[in-house]
Amino acid sequence: MTLKHYLSVADFDLATHEALIDRAMALRTAHAAGQHEATLKGKTLAMLFEQASTRTRVAFEAGMAQLGGHAIFLSARDTQLGRGELVEDAARVLSEMVDVAMIRTPDQTKIDNFAQAATIPVINAMSSREHPCQVLADMQTYYSHRGPIQGKRVAFIGDGFNMCQSYVIASHVYQFDLAVACPRGFEPNAEWLRRYGDRTTLGHDPEAAVENADLVVTDVWSSMGHEDQQLLRLRRFQGFQVNQRLLDRAKDDVLFMHCLPAHRGEEISEDLLEDPRSVAFEEAGNRLHSQKALLEYLLKDAG
Ligand code: CP
Repeated sequence: MTLKHYLSVADFDLATHEALIDRAMALRTAHAAGQHEATLKGKTLAMLFEQASTRTRVAFEAGMAQLGGHAIFLSARDTQLGRGELVEDAARVLSEMVDVAMIRTPDQTKIDNFAQAATIPVINAMSSREHPCQVLADMQTYYSHRGPIQGKRVAFIGDGFNMCQSYVIASHVYQFDLAVACPRGFEPNAEWLRRYGDRTTLGHDPEAAVENADLVVTDVWSSMGHEDQQLLRLRRFQGFQVNQRLLDRAKDDVLFMHCLPAHRGEEISEDLLEDPRSVAFEEAGNRLHSQKALLEYLLKDAG
């Protein structure tokens, strides 16, 4: 039995990610034809959420159902974790009962400690450090439109938080060049840049970052947990909006992605998601297919 977790984009190499993308594309084609193979029949996923979710929850829950398995939604409010049960104890208990677990919590240490104590595969469903499932769907979306991303130029505009940090790691794993433009004081984690930033250029000028870009990505200016800084951030992020004018500076065939939810009029202009260069809704739909591929892969050899 081989126990695998997906806590970071760095956990899998390029070949593994590309195999997942291939499988996700096949699952998407099958889904469109109404065909669902029960590859996870009898398997159960525990979904622990300390923060709100639409896409991640629905993709995992619908994905398990479509593959013949079952998912259990557990919010911190309704479980003993919310009343102080040790995360390691919860991991050991859930390992006795289910086949795979995913956790969304701002606290990366909790995810790491859960995975350390678990004897089942564990997935990071977003922490303040990373959002690896989102990047997997983003890469599926890029590959399905443009083919391999190696050597391409990606621009991340805005907050150097978990999505940006995931892109720093992804640039190292997938071997693309990443130009980050963020306001001063909102840079990605220095440790992540040191470890994975060999293809990342960090700057503060969105126009310079998108020059010649094949893919432009952004995220909200105030992620979950930053709500109390909303007014400050609205001021500090002025000039970092992705709009048509900014996209016009990228390559003619540039793609635009946003993990959603979006705040129109802030990090993107009002109608950017309707621009033909935007693939944000397809990107959201690919969460379903890529997470199904991930679940199959993690459970394949897990006994
Ligand atoms: N992009 C994303 O993770 O969406 P949710 O917060 O709705 O899961």
